[in-house]
Amino acid sequence: MSRTEKLKPLRAEKTGPLKGAAIAPGDKSVSHRALILGALSIGETSISGLLEAEDVLNTAQAMRSLGADVVRDGEGRWRVHGVGVAGWSEPSDALDFGNSGTGVRLTMGAVATTPITTIFTGDASLRRRPMRRVLEPLSLFGAVADSREGGLLPVTLHGARQPLPIEYRMTVASAQVKSALLLAALNVPGRSTIIERAATRDHTERMLKAFGAEITVEPASDGASAISLTGEAELRSIPIAVPSDPSSAAFPLVAALIVPGSDVILKGVMLNPRRIGLIESLLEMGAKIEIRNARDNGGEKIGDLAVKHSALRGIEIPPERAPSMIDEYPVLAVAAAFAEGSTVMRGLEELRVKESDRLAAVAAGLGANGVRFEELADGLIVHGAGPDGVTGGGNVLTHMDHRIAMSFLVMGLASAAPLRVDDGSMIATSFPNFIALMQSLGADIGY
Ligand code: S3P
Repeated sequence: MSRTEKLKPLRAEKTGPLKGAAIAPGDKSVSHRALILGALSIGETSISGLLEAEDVLNTAQAMRSLGADVVRDGEGRWRVHGVGVAGWSEPSDALDFGNSGTGVRLTMGAVATTPITTIFTGDASLRRRPMRRVLEPLSLFGAVADSREGGLLPVTLHGARQPLPIEYRMTVASAQVKSALLLAALNVPGRSTIIERAATRDHTERMLKAFGAEITVEPASDGASAISLTGEAELRSIPIAVPSDPSSAAFPLVAALIVPGSDVILKGVMLNPRRIGLIESLLEMGAKIEIRNARDNGGEKIGDLAVKHSALRGIEIPPERAPSMIDEYPVLAVAAAFAEGSTVMRGLEELRVKESDRLAAVAAGLGANGVRFEELADGLIVHGAGPDGVTGGGNVLTHMDHRIAMSFLVMGLASAAPLRVDDGSMIATSFPNFIALMQSLGADIGY
């Protein structure tokens, strides 16, 4: 079946106040890592709160194909019987990661130092995304990759037979690349060091430590940090409780800010300091967001977010904040559309290589709904239309990007005319109950 036959158009329209409490689903980054580290460890890893979305289910299937036993016990409750670092066996068929850059890149890292050959592929969006950023540094360990022209999937990766430790300075701000290299380093004799200048999400480092790996993070020159991992590690299973995903909570959060009269609580949201750039930015824009009941959840800070409709004003987002809110720019642009004044976002070249070219997709969506903007090579300036100024009425092209679909549906809840997105099917990759959750708060979103 072609994509056009599967398109699932959705619409959103002006909604009365959003009210009530909701729990956004489990964190996508932590869910992928829980399955992969579980598969690489000895013993049984029990997971609760796993995000049961297409991206993560594809990773679960890949772990099975590599030899781990992965079992679902009930909603969000999973068990992984790992085979140990170096224990993975060659899959008999290509691994298909669907829409997920995290799944494919982290798994490439984890197999790169095991002497097996693995074939990777994904959907049309993933087959357009750059893989050289992982394949090049993985070749320093001794892995050999054949890809399509331009470093595109499908990729055949021959794991190194006698891997060597590396010291590598990252050239892109990417937690996926960093994580791929750390997972590769697990099966290498000696100590590998990865140097990152921009502080990207650190779930892999935290979880590797919790699984018993010898890993240190130290300041390096020019504000960078050096992450060192001793290889030939033995990972020991631990139970994992996946907290609620701040990148998914972002959608009801922004919806509550822009829909007049709203008063919403989002419970148990992960507040890892490297994931809260959106909350920081919205607070600077005048958002009424209160963090209540901040607590620890297996090494990650979580809290309940109490959010009320707010008068927002445009601000300049510091470019160095980008890694801590990299997935949240589309929905920030929606908040900015309802603000007074302009919001300037820069340092966003990475957005061009996400599930879609998100700068172009957001710009087109704003334009289709009567919001003025300037698209820059590495950023976007949104000229806020004010709380009642977004005309809506547009048909937004989502380009196989779940976050473009959800962001613009949120926009439709406060725009004058109903808004449509051409395809909401990709929402299932990260937030399968998005529509039900939004409807439970009172949102008029549907087919
Ligand atoms: C992720 C890292 C980010 C982010 C993605 C999840 C991760 O990608 O956009 O949604 O789990 O490591 P990059 O590493 O490409 O920035």
